[in-house]
Amino acid sequence: MLDRRTLLAAMAVAPIFPAAAKSDHIPLAMEARHVQMLFGCAVRADQIFADRDFQTLVLTECAEITPELELKWDYIEPIKGQYNFSGADALADLAARTQLALHGHTLLWHDAIPPWAIVALEREADWASIERYFVAILPRYQTTVSTWDVVNEPIDVMSGDKGYRTSPFYTAFGPDYVARAFVLARQYAPTAKLFINEYGLVYDTPESRDKRAALIKLIDALKGRSAPLNGIGVQAHLELDQQHHFNADSFAAFLNEIGRRGLEIRISELDVKENQTELMPDQRDERAANAVRDVLAIALSNRAVGTVTSWGLSDRYSWLPEAGGNAGYNRGLPFDTDLEEKSLYRAIRDALRHRQK
Ligand code: G3I
Repeated sequence: MLDRRTLLAAMAVAPIFPAAAKSDHIPLAMEARHVQMLFGCAVRADQIFADRDFQTLVLTECAEITPELELKWDYIEPIKGQYNFSGADALADLAARTQLALHGHTLLWHDAIPPWAIVALEREADWASIERYFVAILPRYQTTVSTWDVVNEPIDVMSGDKGYRTSPFYTAFGPDYVARAFVLARQYAPTAKLFINEYGLVYDTPESRDKRAALIKLIDALKGRSAPLNGIGVQAHLELDQQHHFNADSFAAFLNEIGRRGLEIRISELDVKENQTELMPDQRDERAANAVRDVLAIALSNRAVGTVTSWGLSDRYSWLPEAGGNAGYNRGLPFDTDLEEKSLYRAIRDALRHRQK
């Protein structure tokens, strides 16, 4: 198999994969690198290792991969003390061989706690189970994972408590669990950059305004305790029927709030929920691309934003539940089911090109 260095060298001369057959196709990784950014995507081991064309697309377009499932606690330790590193090891090996950055997603997430650990957390507020998990995973990927989502989606302003999601972690340890997790992660991943990753921050609704404020408050609380927080992942699961709530000024102001606290920003989990099956594919693609254009125009004008991660790369493998197993049901990713570039690819490419060096 061609390694990434060979692929990139070859691409400097001539495009080599089907989507690149268009003479003006430039991989997003290259566009991003020109402006000192990283472009990456989420991948699943079962998909990328079974589909060589898709693997080639990922290796061509991306400078970073994020395991979509394989580093989550419920995947890694489904039974207490019995670890399953197969998927994560395979992806880490691929990343190392092809010089991709590997983003670690995610250590503490309320939606990926193995059932036995939920019981343990409820029964005895068992921090030891968390520490064992961090010890098992962080040193193992110390040389491959350069950035970690330490806490995923800790904010809930609707049914939470003082802005915090009442997750099993919060219920067991109170708000302190976030700082404790960062300190512990730093202990076992001394060189990685450590992030909080949160959703529901892009649109300008009463809920998202509260959510932004709660996140900033959490950041300040962590900084007040000198917790080793390096950045924020701003998830960008865009939705066409919410796009009218996008307000460029308020989004820019929110990103500035994060950036001026000295934190890096990842635009994480970019995709568009569209599913406008009554329209022609080109029309659907244009609408999805426009949503991405609006959001990235603001995001990439902020110097704190260093990475854009697409949540999947091709509609062949969309995570969206509406996909219902049917590839292409949702057209919210940069490449279609034939791995051909779409307007959404061009929206990301253009946003990167417009970024000031
Ligand atoms: O592989 C099993 C299969 O064997 C089983 O038959 C089937 C029955 O439900 O489940 C399959 O596993 C599913 C897995 O995706 C693979 O399809 C899990 O149930 C399902 O929960 C899992 O969903 C993932 C979800 O996180 C939970 O881990 C999505 O793929 C993934 O895209 C999604 O990603 C999250 C981010 O981590 C955090 N932000 C939101 C984002 C979207 O929800």
